[in-house]
Amino acid sequence: MTRTFTATLQPLDTTIPDPALIVLIGAAGSGKSTFAATWNPSQVLELDAFRAMVSDEAGDQQATADAVAALRTVLEARLTRKKTTVVDATNCERAVRAGLVQAARRHGVPAVAVLMGTPVSLCVIRQTARTPDRAVPADTVRAQHTAATTAFPGLRGEGFDHVVFADQLHRLEPLLQRASDTRRADLGWDGNPGLGSLLLVRRVFGDAVLPLWRWAEGSTLAGGDRVAEITLGADRLILALRENVDGQGDYGFDLLTACPVDDECTAPAWAPAHSVTTLLDALTGHLANAPDIVCTVHGDGDDQEADAPEDDLQVPYADEAA
Ligand SMILES: Nc1ncnc2c1ncn2[C@@H]1O[C@H](COP(=O)(O)OP(=O)(O)OP(=O)(O)O)[C@@H](O)[C@H]1O
Ligand SMILES: [Mg+2]
Ligand SMILES: [Zn+2]
Repeated sequence: MTRTFTATLQPLDTTIPDPALIVLIGAAGSGKSTFAATWNPSQVLELDAFRAMVSDEAGDQQATADAVAALRTVLEARLTRKKTTVVDATNCERAVRAGLVQAARRHGVPAVAVLMGTPVSLCVIRQTARTPDRAVPADTVRAQHTAATTAFPGLRGEGFDHVVFADQLHRLEPLLQRASDTRRADLGWDGNPGLGSLLLVRRVFGDAVLPLWRWAEGSTLAGGDRVAEITLGADRLILALRENVDGQGDYGFDLLTACPVDDECTAPAWAPAHSVTTLLDALTGHLANAPDIVCTVHGDGDDQEADAPEDDLQVPYADEAA
């Protein structure tokens, strides 16, 4: 689709064929990666990600040559398959763009330049919000911005089939569509089982924990409340689902831990598990002195009268959860 921008009578091209090689062009902080996230992750080749793959550091400039080589290998493989691909790098240098256009040409895939129209002042300000290893110096950002702006009139001449401005494209819909599809699948509204009771697990502990989560059906360890375990290699955490936290009817999880009162006590003691950080604290021994651990025999330790006889303490609770 070609439109006319009435203020300048310049034709504005907003065509992105499918397949296409989409080359984002813009200074650091111009919003390339944010924009690229509207495509499927597998379609986006982000130079920073390749830097991180080869060096563990996305901002490691020493790794650029290796990162570019790896990116180009993947790009070749994708273009061979005629797969739409977004190259998320500054692409402010003509020689870099020439290599990309040549690759697209070789495979008969149209090349599209997408210019980020973000003002340079905003690109510079955005660097201050970044960690030092990711922040690009202001001079560099300004030079990139100038290079991108200067390149604009010559992009068609460089061989790009379409030259479009990011702020003329409608890319919010695919982003929201993907997010909506994911949510519907999670809820089981697309005919699949969905996440069911794992929705709460994910909300509290995050995605990383989900594949490890197993409900221990029938366990009586938590006084009838649902018990679950997270097992990986030599590590094991046991949790209980509480359906009336603080008497407010709220759902939450407790983590099985050691008695806060008596080192010898083997009765189940529970610590509120507010997030994945509680799980980490438990594994690294930082939970031991948390004030809100409650032993099923000794309570939270404040009530000295609650001491129980030794015989009651031999509960083989760890096996019970399995
Ligand atoms: N449309 C937007 N609305 C609000 N914030 C945005 C938008 N686009 C980008 N940003 C913000 O600007 C910052 C920089 O964006 P982004 O990381 O996408 O830039 P970039 O061009 O990929 O930079 P780099 O070249 O350093 O990787 C981010 O913090 C992002 O949240
Ligand atoms: Mg980026
Ligand atoms: Zn105890």
